[in-house]
Amino acid sequence: MFVQAITLAIGLLPFTLAAREFTNHGTKSGWTTTYIDKNTNGYVEDSTSVSYGGSQSLKFGQEYLGSSYTGRYHAEAIYSNGYKRDEEKYYGFAFRLHSTWEFDPQSYNIAQFGADFSDIKWNGQSCDDFSPTTMVWLNGTKLFTRTKHGQMIQGQKCPPLDNKGDCSQGPNCQVIEPFQLQSATSNIGEIKAGVWYRLVFHVKWKSDNTGIFQAWLNGTQVADRSGLQTTLLDDHREYEFRVGLYANSWYDEKKMIGNQAQRQLWIDEIGVGTTFADADPDEIKKSA
Ligand SMILES: *[C@@H]1O[C@H](CO)[C@@H](O)[C@H](O)[C@H]1NC(C)=O
Ligand SMILES: *[C@@H]1O[C@H](CO)[C@@H](O)[C@H](O)[C@H]1NC(C)=O
Repeated sequence: MFVQAITLAIGLLPFTLAAREFTNHGTKSGWTTTYIDKNTNGYVEDSTSVSYGGSQSLKFGQEYLGSSYTGRYHAEAIYSNGYKRDEEKYYGFAFRLHSTWEFDPQSYNIAQFGADFSDIKWNGQSCDDFSPTTMVWLNGTKLFTRTKHGQMIQGQKCPPLDNKGDCSQGPNCQVIEPFQLQSATSNIGEIKAGVWYRLVFHVKWKSDNTGIFQAWLNGTQVADRSGLQTTLLDDHREYEFRVGLYANSWYDEKKMIGNQAQRQLWIDEIGVGTTFADADPDEIKKSA
């Protein structure tokens, strides 16, 4: 009787399948946490200087510190429930590079998914620490992304840490497939400084070849992949979803190309859910 009453009530709701599980209108509050590397000048701030919806947004910045600093350069906001393997979700946000952004041939990451795998060990050594799967980055004026497949399973051999992608040395390997976000029909993929862009992703996170990866930039489809592996075979652990500025090339390439040591960008109207509308910044700003 009780169960029937609930079933009836749910059946009467018009949009039971749509669920915007996470929304943020460009503020520091509401995130699981933020992450800025110690000893950097990175920041994550509430900003009222520009906004995609409403009157504020999140401002992220980092500064290149030269060769005396050997660490990484994150300034990110973190939502801890990004995905678990076999889930299917939409993710979206609006972003704007500072109007004087210098476009250089290095990678500046603006969003990423990842999980900590330091508990996965072989011969007493961790197979990895925080491992990013899909990342979204700017290189020059173009946006790129990637999928990652392979596996991270307890009790299985992993390749050496400096060669994590070599699957001939152990099954706990991680293979990266990068690709450009571009449209076959427009030049929307050319990012300009000082302009807002809406980015929406749809991912079915599968470690076999039944995954889906789609993306839209300002409503124009810039990725449409299916029948592919989109994540690692793992124990269904939770991956974080992060947005912000992670100047990964400064660490990976041990240098900064160009003349802009201080980098800044804004992110606003972030959403995660089960439909395109749940993640579309134009819909999210209406719900502010
Ligand atoms: C960025 O793109 C340039 C080509 O424009 C390429 O040479 C370089 O390797 C790329 N860097 C990264 C970190 O992807
Ligand atoms: C992307 O969309 C925003 C508003 O939705 C607009 O201000 C911006 O000019 C668009 N960018 C391009 C390159 O069309």
